[in-house]
Amino acid sequence: MFPLNRPIEDWHGKRLWIIGASSGIGASIASQALNAGAKVALSARREEQLQAVAGGRPDAFAIAFDVLDEQSWSDAHCQIRQRMGGVDLVIFCAAEYRPERIWEVTPSGSRRTLGVNLGSLYAGLAAILPDMLERGTGGIAIVASVAGWIGLPKASVYGPSKAALINLAEILYSDLRPRGLDVYLINPGFVSTQLTARNDFHMPALQTPDDAASVILRGIAAGRFEIHFPWRFTLLVKLVRMLPYRLRFALIGQLIKT
Ligand SMILES: NC(=O)c1ccc[n+]([C@@H]2O[C@H](COP(=O)([O-])OP(=O)(O)OC[C@H]3O[C@@H](n4cnc5c(N)ncnc54)[C@H](OP(=O)(O)O)[C@@H]3O)[C@@H](O)[C@H]2O)c1
Repeated sequence: MFPLNRPIEDWHGKRLWIIGASSGIGASIASQALNAGAKVALSARREEQLQAVAGGRPDAFAIAFDVLDEQSWSDAHCQIRQRMGGVDLVIFCAAEYRPERIWEVTPSGSRRTLGVNLGSLYAGLAAILPDMLERGTGGIAIVASVAGWIGLPKASVYGPSKAALINLAEILYSDLRPRGLDVYLINPGFVSTQLTARNDFHMPALQTPDDAASVILRGIAAGRFEIHFPWRFTLLVKLVRMLPYRLRFALIGQLIKT
């Protein structure tokens, strides 16, 4: 079957901007892309962590900012264009997560999580898209989650933010692919990072950030729209999602025991 995006088989000289690159999956993608010959701009709030991931490599460039600060998006984009001449692929990977039952959610906490995980993308896209649209080339990758497919326990705000990202990625594909841009939707299962370290339940099919990054880069290289993994978990969740709610609720409880 022909790929939905243009495959990126050779990373040499490709200019990536990874937002959420200071730890976990984003940091692993940055390291692997740098090793494969890409030029990488790394963003997140923790400058020292970004520098550590960059590891002094000449093709790595750290630019720290908070995704909730709207102005910082265009400032960062300007600096990256000056430094790298443009961006070929932006990976939106920043997120925050608190495991909480619905009665533990506060309005201010939910506003913040929705702002970081979802709202900030609109500021990012407003800064990034005009240049890509003018050039008629470039790629946008959104890291959502399996938690956006079905309502998982304790993902009271995180889950809805990821469901919205999946929807947004589909809209972006319809809008941007005819204009020459590529759009990737990345739906990881459980990955062992600081984000999931707070989970007090068993996480099935847990992967390492390095494994996750390899699958993501392979998926982009193959030109996939949706990159989900690990299949032994994600295919099961996709199946559960198709069932009537009575069965679905019962199986979710079996799949994830909180
Ligand atoms: N781990 C999993 O099981 C899993 C599963 C599905 C999807 N995901 C998704 O994968 C992505 C990466 O998560 P991860 O598991 O690798 O966790 P992580 O290590 O906590 O990474 C989250 C990244 O987001 C950045 N970030 C958070 N708030 C930010 C803000 N306000 N401004 C700028 N950057 C901010 C963090 O950096 P700073 O703190 O330095 O700002 C960090 O680099 C997220 O989108 C997450 O939802 C993870």
